[in-house]
Amino acid sequence: MDILVRTDASAVATTAADILARYARAHATIGVATGSTPLATYRELIRRHQAGELSFAGCRMFALDEYVGLDYSHPESYHAVIHRELTDQLDIDPANVHVPDAAADNLQQACRDYEAAIEDAGGIDIQLLGIGGNGHIGFNEPGSSFDSLTRLKTLHPATVRDNARFFDSPDDVPVHVLTQGLGTIRRAGHLLLLATGQAKADAIAAALEGPLSASVPASLVQLHRRATIVVDEAAASGLKNVEYYRFVDENRPEWQQ
Ligand code: F6R
Repeated sequence: MDILVRTDASAVATTAADILARYARAHATIGVATGSTPLATYRELIRRHQAGELSFAGCRMFALDEYVGLDYSHPESYHAVIHRELTDQLDIDPANVHVPDAAADNLQQACRDYEAAIEDAGGIDIQLLGIGGNGHIGFNEPGSSFDSLTRLKTLHPATVRDNARFFDSPDDVPVHVLTQGLGTIRRAGHLLLLATGQAKADAIAAALEGPLSASVPASLVQLHRRATIVVDEAAASGLKNVEYYRFVDENRPEWQQ
């Protein structure tokens, strides 16, 4: 794991955008996340694109998850969010932007089709991830198998409460979702996990320094041969080994810069 500690959320976004820009230049397949954490990174990528520095024309994107029971036209469906907050403002071909089809009649088939679409694209080169306060990634709640593939999951009540901020009432938050599995996420060539704010400190400490456990789905990053974790000071505040992570970052060999 490469753990990068930055002063604040804006510095996290700059570092994440630097990493993603390298993949965009290589016409990569990029896995994208929703939620609040990546929004600053998306704004920075859009800024670079609008400044003529960065093109996504050769890229494909796959979202992590989608609510079941929300029409795509609902502003909080992840289909709508990923288009509004990111892809509509880039030069990526909309046909190359994929979100699990949670409006399908046959959800199991939709999950299989999503896995097949990822495979047909040659796999995901870099997967951007946020982390839930309970350690989830995608919507793989505690107890998710490390081998799981895209499937229907029931949200944890804590996740429903967290996501209620996006809806008029907590009763409006769908409790079912389609999400890439931990096995799907694990196959990506590079994992880029972002976390900002004190509310993520316990989850980050458990994921990076606790035991590998299905109870902390984000601990999957410990199993991955290429995982970059970018956190601000607040999200890093529960890490024991932070002095070492900073030392590694400050003494990066030239070939790695
Ligand atoms: C979103 C997703 C979730 C979020 C997580 C953190 O596609 O898969 O795992 O990344 O719930 O959400 P925020 O960033 O809103 O704290």
